[in-house]
Amino acid sequence: MSENVIAETHGKVGLIRINRPEALNALNNEVIDGIGDALTSFEADAGIGCIVLTGSSKVFAAGADIGFMKDFGYMDAYQPDFITRNWERIRTCRKPVIAAVAGYALGGGCEIAMMCDMIYAAENAKFGQPEIKLGTLPGAGGTQRLPRAVGKAKAMDLCLTGRMMDAAEAEKCGLVARIFPTDKLIEETLAAAQVIAAYSLPVVMMVKEAVNRAYESSLAEGLLFERRTFHASFALDDQKEGMAAFSEKRKPRFRNR
Ligand code: CAA
Repeated sequence: MSENVIAETHGKVGLIRINRPEALNALNNEVIDGIGDALTSFEADAGIGCIVLTGSSKVFAAGADIGFMKDFGYMDAYQPDFITRNWERIRTCRKPVIAAVAGYALGGGCEIAMMCDMIYAAENAKFGQPEIKLGTLPGAGGTQRLPRAVGKAKAMDLCLTGRMMDAAEAEKCGLVARIFPTDKLIEETLAAAQVIAAYSLPVVMMVKEAVNRAYESSLAEGLLFERRTFHASFALDDQKEGMAAFSEKRKPRFRNR
């Protein structure tokens, strides 16, 4: 695993920390591949039910590594399939991934936070797509996920001006699910992740898949997917256990089956 990425296990939660402080956690291949490797090992670990991706208390990630790409020609980006080749790994993880963002989440930093299933922000978080200031545009989904999260007007405003928005504005416009005091971000995010990880893992994965369908399909198709998945949940031992436990007024013991 990359030296710039630290993976830790906290009970049933896998915590991935981006740790490249000298470059404000700028995202080079080493960091992105390190995140991918950590996701792959947590995904394969039956004891892990939820994953948290974070940076430091000062910076989540200040974007793609500008030094790495500044001299690129077209073929340097096109041939190795820059971004698609390894950044998309976050999107394909089937277990839930929470971004815990403190400090700057700019450019590719904001984009990898948006690839996660939800964002919890510290009070000091700052989000932005400043690529326009560099003579380029967001390349890891910023122009696509931001409008879906915050609407066209605010996405245009952020991508065209390159300004930053604070945690309060990001929560108000729907980018951020919850805000925590900066020194409590990891503790609170891990607590929420432990709640998720205690549920039935197949059901958690089905919920993630169903909510994501809302972004990928029409309402009618999404409702059909949800209904069929709901029907399929009756084939699970955990559904029997969850409803029996409710009826018997006890805590369920899910076995991920
Ligand atoms: N890539 C490479 N290095 C970066 C970086 C980046 N994205 N962001 C910061 N750094 C480096 C700086 O070069 C500096 O290194 P040195 O000490 O060796 O000079 C170090 O991190 C500290 O940065 P600053 O001195 O600039 O710190 P600051 O506190 O004054 O400013 C900041 C903080 C506002 C975040 C500023 O660093 C900044 O604007 N960074 C660039 C943000 C950006 O443009 N991100 C988009 C990148 S493009 C992209 O992401 C494309 C995509 O969609 C995939």
